[in-house]
This record gives sequence, C-alpha cells and structure tokens, in this order.
Amino acid sequence: MNKTTLDAANGLYPSLTTIVGAMVEGKANFLTIAHVGIMNHGAPQYLSIGLGRSHYTNIGIHESGVFSINVPSRELVVKTDYVGLVSGKNTDKSDVFELFQGKTGAPLIAECPVVMECRVERVVEFSTHEVFVGEIVETYADETVLSGGKIDVAKLDPLLFDMSSVKYWSLGQEVAPCWRIGKEMKRAVRGE
Ligand SMILES: Cc1cc2nc3c(=O)[nH]c(=O)nc-3n(C[C@H](O)[C@H](O)[C@H](O)COP(=O)(O)O)c2cc1C
Repeated sequence: MNKTTLDAANGLYPSLTTIVGAMVEGKANFLTIAHVGIMNHGAPQYLSIGLGRSHYTNIGIHESGVFSINVPSRELVVKTDYVGLVSGKNTDKSDVFELFQGKTGAPLIAECPVVMECRVERVVEFSTHEVFVGEIVETYADETVLSGGKIDVAKLDPLLFDMSSVKYWSLGQEVAPCWRIGKEMKRAVRGE
C-alpha cells in the first residue's frame, strides 16, 4: 500500500453546488449549500441538505416546513457565491434573484435552470448541523437544459464545489455509459 493517511478527511468532493431557499419571517432568503444528498431514488424522492445550525435560513425551514433547492449554471457563479458569503440575519437577500411561485410557497429562483421544491420529511440533528430531509414536491427545468425531456448535464453546466482547492469547478467530458461499460467484465466473471 502506498497511501498517505488523511485522518478522517471527507473524500467525497466535488459535490454539486446548490442554492437553498426558504421564507424567513415573511421574506425570501437564500444560502449556498454544497452538502446535498440523494436519500432514495424512487417514489417519493427524498433529498437531504446539511445546514449549520447558526444559519438564518434554518429558522424559515422550521417555520414553513418547505424549502427549495435551486441548481445554478456556471454563469450564476457570482450570485451563488454572494448568498453563501452573507447572512440573512443582517443582509436582505430577498431581491438577489428573480423569483417564481410554485406549489409550496418556498421561494423559487427563476435564473436557475433546475429548481426543486421540497416539503420537510424529517430533520436529523447533529451538534453543529441540521440535516433537513425533504420530499420533492415539484421540479422545474428550463427547456434550454433538456434533451429528450430529461436534464442534460452538459447543457446545465452545473457548478461543482471542491473543499481542497476551495474553488468552483465545472464538469469535464463523459467517460462511459453507466450499467453498460461493466457488462463485459460481468460476463467474464460469470464465465458467459
Ligand atoms: C460554495 C459554498 C458552499 C457552502 N455550503 C454549505 C453547506 O453545505 N452547508 C452549510 O451549512 N453552509 C454552507 N455554506 C455557507 C452558507 O451558505 C453561508 O454561511 C450563508 O451565508 C448562510 O446564510 P443565511 O445565514 O442567510 O442562512 C456554503 C457557502 C459557500 C460559498
């Protein structure tokens, strides 16, 4: 083995950069969240967001029971960073984005090509963070990022977040088809 130990470093970066929105004390508030997870793939679909306990947005998610997860493209990098730098506690972020209405009342960002509104399913408490697990109620996408009715990552051009470099990255090239590239090995292992 020629590996260096990194204590208990999180090796799961890059992660998707998202903007989470909630109504807080009657105003829309947004913060940047890179700690997002897919909790199950099926119906219903659950997503998780890990928010530090001190964030202003948490108050609104607890109050309303709903939040939005907005996926910005590369051109929204400045606004994405901004809402992750300042807190709604002392800065009004309600007019940073153009908004639209959905089904839940959570504030939805028009400039983001993919937007999901979620209803809180449960909250998992940790000493420093709260993980909100939300059921997706509705997903909205711009036609410009779709191919064959599905979200096309190349068109979406999402921002990836990397903790080591503390930088936003973009996607590279596709590598191989999933659930297909390994088929030859599967056949060989089975002796087929
Ligand atoms: C790129 C980026 C990623 C971030 N990811 C997270 C995250 O996953 N969880 C978290 O609690 N805060 C994260 N933050 C920090 C919050 O977005 C930031 O503290 C924000 O100002 C809190 O806003 P609020 O107090 O208005 O809720 C991130 C910030 C940036 C710039």
